[in-house]
Amino acid sequence: MRILGIESSCDETAVAIVEDGRKILSNVIASQASEHQKYGGVVPELASRRHLENILTVVKEALSDADMELEDVDGIAVTFAPGLIGALLVGVSFAKGLALAAGKPLIPVHHTEGHAAANYLVHPDLKPPYLGVIVSGGHTRIAAVTDYTTFQTIGRTRDDAAGECFDKCARAMGFPYPGGLHVDQNAQQGNPLAFKLPKSKMEGNPYDFSFSGLKTYVVNLLHHADQIGEAINKQDLSASLQKHIADVVTEKAIAAAKEFGYRSIALSGGVSANSGVRRALEAACQKEGFTLYQPPIALCGDNAAMIASQGYYNYLAGITADESLNAMASKELHGESLVRNERI
Ligand code: KG4
Ligand code: ZN
Repeated sequence: MRILGIESSCDETAVAIVEDGRKILSNVIASQASEHQKYGGVVPELASRRHLENILTVVKEALSDADMELEDVDGIAVTFAPGLIGALLVGVSFAKGLALAAGKPLIPVHHTEGHAAANYLVHPDLKPPYLGVIVSGGHTRIAAVTDYTTFQTIGRTRDDAAGECFDKCARAMGFPYPGGLHVDQNAQQGNPLAFKLPKSKMEGNPYDFSFSGLKTYVVNLLHHADQIGEAINKQDLSASLQKHIADVVTEKAIAAAKEFGYRSIALSGGVSANSGVRRALEAACQKEGFTLYQPPIALCGDNAAMIASQGYYNYLAGITADESLNAMASKELHGESLVRNERI
């Protein structure tokens, strides 16, 4: 089965064609990042407008790269949630039109589930059940992926996502948007032990995350230094911040794998591109004898190949939609049940 996937939840207009959920036939991404850079973050209206301008060209390119016509596609998968509502609506409306015109099934995909599927594209042996660690700009979550379409949340962020923390701290350090990558680059030359940063204690569920206190601490540290004319070594601060986030993600992932009996961990999401997070989790998994799966850097961030992959598994599970499909700014994962979250 060849699924055409569409992703437009943030600032990437992406279309890909994937065979049987595993083999990329084409993968086109039109990124708007450079346009949003001058505003220091994504401007939602601008993102929607650019999606609208780009989407037809990107669909045509994905079909031509795969040497296919629309009739050759077996289904249209689209990110319908969560994300910027106006941005999502462009992809959802376009997908509905395509599916209707071509008489193909329309398959809704949750963006976070899509991130997890990025690993299927490069690891043929990865199959549920496994522990999914999904860390991006909008989400930070540890979930038991019990089958391809069932995600049982073990822990998730109560406030900011890890990527948001990276980005806001990066902005306060004067790095351009998207800041996570610049923190990573600066961290290479810094001392990770130079700054002692505060760790959040999670009442109730030890697998939940909280990054807003860390973000506020770093931003205040920089503002205070600025006010008193003290220089802060940004490479050291980047290295300390990166180590802190990498350690938190790793400790919780390993502890959850042990408690819930998983020996395979699959990392995904934009922050899975972070060299510190990758290294820390690799080392911990090696020590515990766990198998770690992670996507190549090119598939960590938003792309449509991961949406087409998850779309394939959704289709097999009977998850399809009709023209009443709507975009949603926020939405629980499909089949989500909270394993242990006393707050909810
Ligand atoms: O998955 P993604 O592309 O979009 C969302 O679904 O949110 O993730 C984007 C996030 C941004 O916060 C970006 O700064 C972060 O991933 N990111 C990184 C790195 N590359 C991207 N964060 C830390 N280190 C990186 N190398
Ligand atoms: Zn994403």
